[in-house]
Amino acid sequence: MSKSIIKAAGLFKSYKMGATSVDVLRGLELTIKKGEFVAIIGSSGSGKSTLLHILGSLDRPDSGDVFFDDENLNGFSSRRLNKFRNKEVGFVFQFYHLLDELDVLENVYLPSMVSRSIIGWFGFKTQARQRAAGLLERFGLADRLTHKPYQLSGGERQRVAIARALMNEPQVLLADEPTGNLDWQTGNDILNVFTELNKAGQTIIMVTHDQRIAQKAGRVITLVDGRITD
Ligand SMILES: Nc1ncnc2c1ncn2[C@@H]1O[C@H](COP(=O)(O)OP(=O)(O)O)[C@@H](O)[C@H]1O
Ligand SMILES: [Mg+2]
Repeated sequence: MSKSIIKAAGLFKSYKMGATSVDVLRGLELTIKKGEFVAIIGSSGSGKSTLLHILGSLDRPDSGDVFFDDENLNGFSSRRLNKFRNKEVGFVFQFYHLLDELDVLENVYLPSMVSRSIIGWFGFKTQARQRAAGLLERFGLADRLTHKPYQLSGGERQRVAIARALMNEPQVLLADEPTGNLDWQTGNDILNVFTELNKAGQTIIMVTHDQRIAQKAGRVITLVDGRITD
C-alpha cells in the first residue's frame, strides 16, 4: 500500500455571519495516497473550496489536523508553512487567477521568484525561464509565451495556470472546479492533461460539483453534510 501524502483528521470549520453560523466541515476525515488522482464531489455550497483551501493551508480549520507526509501542519512555523504553500502544493482555480500585466512565460515562472532573494533569483532566472517554457511547450503553448492572459482562450488560460501550479514541482496539485468555466470539450482537454500528469506520478486532488467530470479521476469521494461519505 502506498504512503499517505495528505491526511485530514477531525476537521471542523464554520463561518460566523452576525448571530448565525454556517457549519461547513463537521469532523471531516480524509486520506490521500501518493500518486492518487482523487475527485471530491459535492453540491454547490457543500464546502469543497473550504476543504481544498484548508488542505493547501490557504485557510485554517477551527479545529482538526492536516498532515502532509505524516507531518502536522499545525506544528509548522510560518516559514515552513510558506514553503509548503509555495513548493509542496500547487493550486489551479476555476477562474485561472493569472496576472494580465505579465506575459504567459512570466506568469508561469512567478512562483519560483517568490522564495528567492534578488541575487538568488538572478542566478536562477535562465533556468526558471527554461523550465517554464518547457512546461508551456508540453501543454501545447510554445507559440504563446509572450501573449498576455487576456489574449488567450479559456482553455489556454487554464493550461497556463496548470503550468504555473507545476512550476515548483509540487507534491500535490489541488484543483478547484478547474473546468467550471469551460465548455465540455475544452474541459475534457484539461482533464486529459490531469490524467497524463497523474500517469507520470503527480498526485492530484480535484473538487467539482459535476459527476461526469469526477468520473475521470481514479477515485471519487463525496462531501455531504461536512463529511466524506462513501
Ligand atoms: N468567507 C466566508 N464567509 C462566510 N461564509 C462562507 C465563506 N466562505 C464560504 N462560506 C459559506 O460556506 C459554505 C461552503 O462554501 P464553499 O466551501 O465555497 O462551497 P463549495 O465550494 O462547495 O461551493 C457556503 O454556504 C458558503 O456560503
Ligand atoms: Mg467552490
